[in-house]
Amino acid sequence: NDMLSWQRTSYHFQPQKNWMNDPNGPLFHMGWYHFFYQYNPNSAVWGNITWGHAVSKDLINWFHLPIAMVPDNWYDIAGVWTGSATILPDGQIIMLYTGKTANLTEVQNLAYPANLSDPLLLEWVKHPGNPVMVPPPGIGFKDFRDPTTAWLGPDGMWRITIGSKINNNGLSLVYKTANFTEFELSDELLHEVPGSGMWECIDFYPVSLASTDGLDTSANGAGVKHVLKASLDQYMQDYYAIGTYDPMSDKWTPDDPKADVGLGLRVDDGQFYASKTFYDQNKKRRIIWAWVGESDSESTDVLKGWASLQAIPRTIVFDKETGTNILQWPVEEVESLRSVSYDFDKLKLGPGSVLPLNIGSATQLDIVATFEIDEEALQSTVEANEDYNCSSSGGASRGVLGPFGILVLADEPLSELTPVYFYISKGTDGIAKTHFCADQSRSSTASDVGKLIYGSDVPVLNGEKLSMRLLVDHSIVESFAQGGRKVITSRVYPTKAINGGAKLFVFNNATGVSVTASVKAWQMISANSVPFPQNGDHL
Ligand code: FRU
Repeated sequence: NDMLSWQRTSYHFQPQKNWMNDPNGPLFHMGWYHFFYQYNPNSAVWGNITWGHAVSKDLINWFHLPIAMVPDNWYDIAGVWTGSATILPDGQIIMLYTGKTANLTEVQNLAYPANLSDPLLLEWVKHPGNPVMVPPPGIGFKDFRDPTTAWLGPDGMWRITIGSKINNNGLSLVYKTANFTEFELSDELLHEVPGSGMWECIDFYPVSLASTDGLDTSANGAGVKHVLKASLDQYMQDYYAIGTYDPMSDKWTPDDPKADVGLGLRVDDGQFYASKTFYDQNKKRRIIWAWVGESDSESTDVLKGWASLQAIPRTIVFDKETGTNILQWPVEEVESLRSVSYDFDKLKLGPGSVLPLNIGSATQLDIVATFEIDEEALQSTVEANEDYNCSSSGGASRGVLGPFGILVLADEPLSELTPVYFYISKGTDGIAKTHFCADQSRSSTASDVGKLIYGSDVPVLNGEKLSMRLLVDHSIVESFAQGGRKVITSRVYPTKAINGGAKLFVFNNATGVSVTASVKAWQMISANSVPFPQNGDHL
């Protein structure tokens, strides 16, 4: 079926077949980026969870390797669940992961490479003393999973954190260890947020206030803040907050308690879950991976024979301009796939206009665009729609100052289209708020696919142009606004806007303002996604 095979992406990471979910244990070793993931080797739905494994020189072109770990011991027989890697100062690699036991208890296990001098890290040894952590008193046996990368404290002890909940309060437990085989639970929690539910896949990492370099997970001190991220299973959404970590008490405090984990910022406003960062010592950057699930039906996934993607890995830095956000940006290596480009300079878009951009097939694209609106119109308009939010009105709605943006994966008669756009709302107090949205409500004429409108407001600072970058790859659109201050990942399943039928447009649906749009679009070549060559040519 052409429609179904068309959905497979050409430069996003996906296994060759079957089900994938969370990213696991990403690391860089002997010239290779390693990527592990929650994988069902038997079918395109969740179950029989093992660790899939692939390697890459550039985070974009991948070699698939044999499964790294399967359920084969009492302490992980019901599933080799999510975990993280720690590279010790002497080069040793520690893998901590959650095992689901025969009686469905969640425990933490230790594994390590059988042969550290193997660049492919093909063989993994499970520690004979597993499990190394079991649910402590007061913690539910199904509420104890997804250990983080370890960091080193000033007392010479390593720490990790593990997500849980008590009643409905999401929280993170801290354990200390000297040797990764014996762990001691700290009396204090790293953090807790009432009502936030089970915290899955906690991520905890330092960011530099001054530099765009990433920091090793153990970094702390002056000029460093810490990001705490939890994946809230009650919403299937990743939330983060920026704060301060005190290594003496092992407590983390959010800068703004009102924007605490689960109450404030999402890592990505769209389909994006169980994200995990790692410090790439090769290029001195912190990179985030995340599971992007399907929003079609399970029966379609079974027909396709696969389900889920990973988002393009993104660098993470502290947003010095706002002081309240992180910035995410696709790793520079994705730009190696850019081929022919098309420039559209200063297109004037009057109120209510749609303009096709002639670039050929619009199925694999990298797009950067800026939008300028008439400053005088912005100043003089009073729209009084303070309550605007992306989810209530899509790209077809018309306000005085928006929406305007790009239509991706759209067919010629616009029977299918995915608008990604800005909308400026302004209260009677004259204060403008910029919203960044991605509207899937008309993305497909099929009925059994997700049709939400994603997005929220994004800070736009004085002197900044409105800007967006879009990565379009068959059934995924990743949209970055204002340099990655706000990101929205969408899964879209067009039936007509496919192959040569997929086009690109700019639009301005505002009633009260003209917009000047400048767009550059690159056709993207496909990345490699192949089994590792048996002859070892690539070593
Ligand atoms: C998150 C998650 C983790 C768990 C894994 C199981 O998506 O539920 O908490 O370890 O997936 O596949």
